[in-house]
Amino acid sequence: MEDTRHDSRAAQARVSAIAGLPDPFLRADGSRLSSPGEWAARRREILAQIVDIEYGGLPPRPERTLWTELSRTSVGWLDRATFITGQVRTGPDRPFAFLMQLLVPPGKGPFPVVLHGDGCWRTATDEISTHVVRSGCILAQFNRTELAADNEGWRDTGLYRVFPDGQFGELAAWAWGYHRCVDVLAGLPEADAARIAVVGHSRGGKTTLLAGATDERIALTSANNSGAGGAGCFRVQGPESETLAALLRGFPRWFGARLRDYVGREAELPFDQHCLKALVAPRALLTTEGFGDVWANPAGTWQTHLAAREVFRFLGVPERIGVWFREGGHNHGLADWKALLDFMAWQLDGAPPRECFAPDPFPGTPAAFGWRAPGRH
Ligand code: GCU
Repeated sequence: MEDTRHDSRAAQARVSAIAGLPDPFLRADGSRLSSPGEWAARRREILAQIVDIEYGGLPPRPERTLWTELSRTSVGWLDRATFITGQVRTGPDRPFAFLMQLLVPPGKGPFPVVLHGDGCWRTATDEISTHVVRSGCILAQFNRTELAADNEGWRDTGLYRVFPDGQFGELAAWAWGYHRCVDVLAGLPEADAARIAVVGHSRGGKTTLLAGATDERIALTSANNSGAGGAGCFRVQGPESETLAALLRGFPRWFGARLRDYVGREAELPFDQHCLKALVAPRALLTTEGFGDVWANPAGTWQTHLAAREVFRFLGVPERIGVWFREGGHNHGLADWKALLDFMAWQLDGAPPRECFAPDPFPGTPAAFGWRAPGRH
């Protein structure tokens, strides 16, 4: 058993690399950063480029976001937690509305929040909800497909009805949904605005990485098995992992139109997904991965982690970027949620972690890039 696992990891580690990962410390004008104080300006350059080319921009921020509570119930089977359903409404121009549900632990808040937008396909099970609430966190959930349907008819649904000329891809529409929930959570007495985490699975994880990268109110960003266009890598591919070509063949609607220009020209893409991860710094970032989830490119994900960690190091917070690997395939199960709650308690409350968030999943694999953080050789 042990041997098979090591064989499969060794196979995973045999990557094919199109080119080295681009150096995030290199400015557009060719000069290189030398001190952490220069990161904010460089971050803005990367942010503008990645959001535009990869995701097609974000829908505009509304002038206001309102919350209307629709119902409130005490949950007998879960320690008398409070279950609240409400409507998130934006306006006054181009009004839009969708639902959010909150499971609030008993006792005195404000509580940290885990915000999860996968209500369309993976509403947290009773077991997971129980773990979140007993960890002292609010579980806030919405259905990101209310913002844009995840099917061929997408252009005629959700936010695209409000912005018929919108060039943003669906991941951006879904990330906007996370941001609007944060607008509401930041003003709710039950929630601690300084301790909001976001999580999602697979295409939902691609969404949370974009949401966390583009909104500094999010204290902790987490993505589970997010793969290509998420925590994965376009340039470094493990065996049978999803390439840029496959991703855009299957799901062009998730991305901005300009990403297509780089199919077969990945080496010319001015960024790779380590740059998206780096945008989260110095806030906390956790990606959770399965060794058997080969389509999601565990080996390439490891490389984007190593590369993004250079930015966290540069900013003096190397422990704020974590990665957690388990055996098994494409799934967002209790073990993944437990790892997130453990990482949250560590990062947001200072509790010593039980899990290992700095593993060596592919021992002996060299980094797919030659540069290091300025000042580190
Ligand atoms: C497809 C897609 C992946 C995506 C996954 C999912 O497999 O190719 O990129 O992550 O669906 O969302 O489950």
